[in-house]
Amino acid sequence: MPDFEEIASTDEFGSLDRLEVFVDDIPVLLIRLNDQYLAIEDVCTHDGQPLTAGCIENGEIICPRHGARFDLLTGNALCMPATKPIQTFEIKVKDSKIFARPRD
Ligand code: FES
Repeated sequence: MPDFEEIASTDEFGSLDRLEVFVDDIPVLLIRLNDQYLAIEDVCTHDGQPLTAGCIENGEIICPRHGARFDLLTGNALCMPATKPIQTFEIKVKDSKIFARPRD
């Protein structure tokens, strides 16, 4: 199991609900949702579109290009055209620092 890596501070969010960060050189979208932090690989498994600008609703993010939906917690692809899950990350917050590591 990889170690947690510091990726951001809660102060960086300001009024934003998401930040683009990197974990081990992987582009990651860090999302604040109802005071919970979630992180997903910022690459749609259908055709590589960044998910940064995707709408978030009901715990899902919608790819802005062709509309695939992914579960923010599990990364599972919930509808076509995506069939493969996206990587998700385990998050830990300590003293306003946010740490992440890939989930299995
Ligand atoms: S690139 Fe995301 S649904 Fe096609």
